[in-house]
Amino acid sequence: MKTRIALLREMGKARPYSDSKPLEIVEAELDDPGPGELLIKMAAAGLCHSDLSVINGDRPRDMPVALGHEAAGVVEAVGPHVTRFSPGDHVVLVFAPSCGHCVPCAEGRPALCEPAAVAAGKGALITGSKRISVGGEHVNHHIGVSAFSDYAVVSEASCVKIDKSIPLDQAALLGCAVLTGVGAVLNSGGLKTGQSCAVVGLGGVGLAGLLGAIAAGARTIVAVDLAKDKRDLALKLGATHVIDPTEEGAVQKLRDLTGGGVDLAVELAGAVPALQFAYAITRRGGTTVTAGLPNPQAEFKIPAVSLTANEHALKGSYMGSCVPVRDIPRFAQMMVQGQLPIPELMTHRLKLEEINEGFERLAAGEAIRQVIIFD
Ligand SMILES: NC(=O)c1ccc[n+]([C@@H]2O[C@H](COP(=O)([O-])OP(=O)(O)OC[C@H]3O[C@@H](n4cnc5c(N)ncnc54)[C@H](O)[C@@H]3O)[C@@H](O)[C@H]2O)c1
Ligand SMILES: [Zn+2]
Ligand SMILES: [Zn+2]
Repeated sequence: MKTRIALLREMGKARPYSDSKPLEIVEAELDDPGPGELLIKMAAAGLCHSDLSVINGDRPRDMPVALGHEAAGVVEAVGPHVTRFSPGDHVVLVFAPSCGHCVPCAEGRPALCEPAAVAAGKGALITGSKRISVGGEHVNHHIGVSAFSDYAVVSEASCVKIDKSIPLDQAALLGCAVLTGVGAVLNSGGLKTGQSCAVVGLGGVGLAGLLGAIAAGARTIVAVDLAKDKRDLALKLGATHVIDPTEEGAVQKLRDLTGGGVDLAVELAGAVPALQFAYAITRRGGTTVTAGLPNPQAEFKIPAVSLTANEHALKGSYMGSCVPVRDIPRFAQMMVQGQLPIPELMTHRLKLEEINEGFERLAAGEAIRQVIIFD
C-alpha cells in the first residue's frame, strides 16, 4: 500500500530547518505485514530530541531513514502467526522491542535486548525485514518504529496494547518521553517517598521525569535547566525548587538547600555539562542517573576516587530501564488518575507537513512535546 513518510536523506543540514527542510514528506510503498508483524494506522507521533539528534548528526544512522519513534496508533491488519493483536486494537509503539530470549531479556531488562539493537543498527525491524521502499529502493526503519508516517509496518514486539479509553495523542508520549523520564526516576533511580531528587534538563523527557518524582512523593524536587521558561513550567508542575546551573555558586547553593546534595540526580538533557552538574549535586552515598544521549564523541570525566570515597552510584538508563508491557499500562493508569499530568507537556499539535518547523522549534528550545496528529 501507499503511505506518506517523513524521509531523512542527509544528516547535518543547516538550520533553520524550516528553510533547509531536512525531512521530506514523500509517498512510500509499504509491504504487507509479514509473520509476527502488524500494520499500524498512526494516530499521533511526538517529536523527541533523539529524532533531532539524527537530523543534526549527533546520533548517526544509515541514510535514508523514515524517522520517528514516539507514537500511538490502531492496528489495521495483522500478519501471519500474530495471536496477541487484532485489527482495531490501540497500541503504543515501543522503540526498543524485545525478543524475549536473549540474556538481557531473560534477566528482565528488555530495553537492552541484543537482537533489537542489532536490527536497529541495520535499519531493520526485529523480524529482520525492511518494509518501506521509495522509488523501488528500501529505506531504513527508525528503531523499529518509523512513526512519522500515516501507516507503518512494525514487529508485534514493538507494540503494547492499551485501553481504548486513553486518548491516543497522550498515549503517544507514553512510548518515549514517559517511559524514559518516569522510568529513569522510578526504575533506574529507584526514588523512594521522602527522598530528595533533582532533574537536570527540562524538555519532554525531563519534565516527564519531574512528574514521576512528584508522583513518587519525593520530599524535595529540584528542577534544573538553562532556560527560564522551562524552570517556570517545572515550578508550576510541582518542583519545590528551581535552579539555573550557570548561576554563580549553583552547586553550593543546591548542596546547602538539600543538606549536602540530593539522594538522586537524573540527567535528562543530553549534554555533558548537565551530567557534570547532576554528578556534582548528588549527595555522598547518592545516585546519579543519566538518560541523555549526547554525541558518541562526547566524554564525561570524574575523579575516580569519588565513586569509592563517596559510595557514589552512577547509572545509565535506556528507555527508563522499563519493561514496556508492565510499565506502559502502569504509567497510563497514573496518567488517567491525574498522577502524571502528561497533557501539560504537549505544547503544539502539528500536521505531518509542518514537521520541519516543529524540529526547528525543538532545536531552538521553544517547545516541550509537539505531537503530529494524523487524520
Ligand atoms: N535514554 C533513552 O532511552 C532516551 C530516550 C529518549 C530521549 N533521550 C534523550 O534525552 C535527552 C532529552 O530529550 P528531550 O526530548 O527531552 O530533549 P529537549 O530538547 O526537549 O530538552 C532538553 C533540555 O535540556 C536542557 N539543557 C541543555 N543543556 C543543559 C545543561 N547543561 N543543563 C541543564 N539543562 C540543559 C535544554 O534547555 C532543554 O530544556 C536527549 O539527549 C534525548 O536524546 C534518551
Ligand atoms: Zn525519544
Ligand atoms: Zn532480547
